[in-house]
Amino acid sequence: MSAGRLSFSNITALAPMVRVGTLPMRLLALDYGADVVYCEELIDIKMAQCQRVVNEVLQTVDFVAPDERVMFRTCEREKDRVVFQMGTADPDRALIVARLVEKDVAAVDVNMGCPKEYSTKGGMGAALLSDPDKIEAILRKLVAGVSIPVTCKIRILPSLEETVSLVRRIERTGVTAVAVHGRFKDERPRHPVHCDYIQAAAQAVSIPVIANGGSLDLVKTNADVDEFKKATGASSVMLARAAMWNASVFNSGGPLPLERVMEEYLKYAIRYENHAFNTKYCLCQMLRDKVESPLGKQVQAAQTNAEISDAYGLQAFYQLTQEQLQARRDALQSSSQPDRPVLDGDVTTMAVRFERREYPPQITPKMFLLEWSRREKLEQPLYETVQRSQDRAFQSTVTVADKSYRPSLWEKSKKFAEQAAAIVCLRVLGIPEGRIGEEDSGLVCKRKREGKANGATTEEESSKKRHVAEIRQETSESPVVANGDHRKPPEQP
Ligand SMILES: Cc1cc2nc3c(=O)[nH]c(=O)nc-3n(C[C@H](O)[C@H](O)[C@H](O)COP(=O)(O)O)c2cc1C
Repeated sequence: MSAGRLSFSNITALAPMVRVGTLPMRLLALDYGADVVYCEELIDIKMAQCQRVVNEVLQTVDFVAPDERVMFRTCEREKDRVVFQMGTADPDRALIVARLVEKDVAAVDVNMGCPKEYSTKGGMGAALLSDPDKIEAILRKLVAGVSIPVTCKIRILPSLEETVSLVRRIERTGVTAVAVHGRFKDERPRHPVHCDYIQAAAQAVSIPVIANGGSLDLVKTNADVDEFKKATGASSVMLARAAMWNASVFNSGGPLPLERVMEEYLKYAIRYENHAFNTKYCLCQMLRDKVESPLGKQVQAAQTNAEISDAYGLQAFYQLTQEQLQARRDALQSSSQPDRPVLDGDVTTMAVRFERREYPPQITPKMFLLEWSRREKLEQPLYETVQRSQDRAFQSTVTVADKSYRPSLWEKSKKFAEQAAAIVCLRVLGIPEGRIGEEDSGLVCKRKREGKANGATTEEESSKKRHVAEIRQETSESPVVANGDHRKPPEQP
């Protein structure tokens, strides 16, 4: 094994778990002492459609589906420890996915144990156990095609001989390790684990066998891990439910109070903008029989990570993290965006942001744009907003008189995104936007100077001031019937 390749000997791993094995849980498990962390099973067809996106704000690498969902998010901290588990029944597709993630993960794993119908009906998961030729084809293709270790996770077969024969065949493909979940395909998680089958497998091959299936009755705390190793003769152990219930099962110093574990989990979820439903799901798994407690009910009712933070008294942490992320977003955007209008296809863009404090109460750029459109007998401005999944930020495009305007900076809410779009339009057209001290701002002064140079009258200027004053009297975005004499704005550059 070359230096730097992940070793599977004598390790304790966080098992792959759908919905549970997302980034916050994996980082938490690493903090508590897990050597290796598996991600949740991700299906090859979905992953193959993903684009790799470096998320500079979160400092993560995201694999983003065409519908903008982040399918897999990872970061530098786990790069040498995370195993990417895929569901696949197709060697070529498996390789495409393995190559897509190869630079960002420490190993790839194929799920050959999932008995759920959604997996088996596509020939994936436990369905592979009855098709060893397919197993071999997938694993050989992966081993030959990627530079990182390849592993797989199986369930045991109906007899010891069949199980041993399968792991031997798997070993010959060149994989680095094999995880053996000591239950038959039809057994449920409540059934006792068959340590003798895992032992037979471990004795039959020279690659590391990772024993799995001991959470319910054998491994309750870290002190039990060695017992499970002894019972199975395996050098390594993989924990699923014990870790899901309390990730400090990896802590060699003993378990930590669940409250603390949940808080630490939630901090990672906030820091990495984990999807709120996923955060909720994981916290509810940790709460177990306390899920109907007042805290559990509050968590269940929450719709956002902010609301979940309230339940745990982590509002200050949530707020601070949001400010830090926004500061990073601003720094990145201002360093990369020009401060003047730029044509992006048919849309005029500008690096502007809506700062509420720059406008008097009850005055917004949208109001100014609406009022101006009405005066000009134009159709109402039309706003279209999109949200990107990697950081849930919003961006609006406003269309006025068949021309579209968009801020190049993304905003934290739809409302702010629309205001920013209105600002772009107003600034490009040279129309007042209602900002405090606008008359002193470079933009309006410039317009004034240009107006004077073009022979504009003081009547025109005072008309603009009247326009601003009239709109300021309004308290809503309802139309303002004003008598100001308004000229058409200068032509768009
Ligand atoms: C919530 C949950 C999700 C799971 N998802 C996966 C998965 O994505 N891939 C997989 O190979 N096994 C999955 N499993 C099975 C576990 O990895 C493990 O094999 C099983 O729970 C037995 O280990 P344990 O006794 O430590 O829980 C899942 C188990 C649970 C409880």
